[in-house]
Amino acid sequence: EQISKGKYEHYMQKEIHEQPESLTTTMRGRLIRDGSSKRKSVLLGGLKDHLKTIRRSRRIVFIGCGTSYNAALAARPILEELCGIPVTMEIASDLLDRQAPVYRDDTIIFVSQSGETADTLNALEYAQENGALCVGITNTVGSSIARSTHCGVHINAGSEIGVASTKAYTSQIVVMAMVALAIGADSISTAQRREGIIESLLNLPGKIREVLKLDEEMKDLARSLISEQSLLMFGRGYNYATALEGALKVKEVALMHSEGILAGEMKHGPLALVDENLPIVVIATRDQCFSKQQSVIQQLKARKGRLIVMCTEGDAEAVCGGSCPVIEVPHIVDCLQPVVNIVPLQLLAYHLTVLRGYNVDQPRNLAKSVTTE
Ligand code: AGP
Repeated sequence: EQISKGKYEHYMQKEIHEQPESLTTTMRGRLIRDGSSKRKSVLLGGLKDHLKTIRRSRRIVFIGCGTSYNAALAARPILEELCGIPVTMEIASDLLDRQAPVYRDDTIIFVSQSGETADTLNALEYAQENGALCVGITNTVGSSIARSTHCGVHINAGSEIGVASTKAYTSQIVVMAMVALAIGADSISTAQRREGIIESLLNLPGKIREVLKLDEEMKDLARSLISEQSLLMFGRGYNYATALEGALKVKEVALMHSEGILAGEMKHGPLALVDENLPIVVIATRDQCFSKQQSVIQQLKARKGRLIVMCTEGDAEAVCGGSCPVIEVPHIVDCLQPVVNIVPLQLLAYHLTVLRGYNVDQPRNLAKSVTTE
């Protein structure tokens, strides 16, 4: 064990708690002042010579697996908004199973913490054969994906040892937000929006420090869920990815069935599962989807759903009128809210695992890096 756990009992715990620092490192040297003005812009050395080509792409395709796929999903809306280019999502194995069309004027972004995931590497080979511009977003300098892509960005989150990816997820989202800012940098109509996001990026480590204070609260929540068979997570918009990623963490380490559900799909099936016993986390932080999530909460309550609501600080009364447990998180600009929102769910998964007596850093049947198909 070359990297020590320091004061922590497990690597996953250490990696969750070091996110203010890992995010700072991810952004270091990349948010720079524009000439003599007060404005800041994004400089991504590994991408700058390819930005023109990317701006001319027919579409951007994200490819990844597991947590890396979820991170890309969280970043998709900001890419669509700032770049004005269609963005599609592909799970690496599924793209290969379908032999989906890939074009010469596609930009394909491969997202992988390890840079060695076999499915993602195979998809990269396939995209290269089809002539697309291949961009790598990895955490491992010199990894196969970093070496085989035309250009890319390292997330610089530091070594991640726990099989459950935590700090890499948040750094991946931040890097992809910076990629969106860099691609969209020429647009006058989004200049103010971009400035607001850059400002929020600078405040992000502080917000993560705040949200980490929920540790004890999440331990208590874990205690109340310790014997459950299943836990659902409902999200939408920017936080659909948060629901998927929160559920992935719970199933992977706490060995509890958990499913992330797109709240907009609730009436198309999942609503049948709702009763007074099944716990459901509803993510209802402030963004353009807030009022829709309020209505989801009302509909779940009308069916006596057992809710745990994640909301923005100060919104507890507004979201559930004191009738259910709430997880209150600090507010930040919409596209970075998933970075804040995932932290309590990482803590919840961690505490559930410890309380249920499972192996936190080496969950059964799983490997950190999946190097075979
Ligand atoms: C995350 O907690 C998982 N261990 C897993 O889903 C992982 O994200 C996936 O295997 C992809 O790995 P990569 O990022 O190294 O490509």
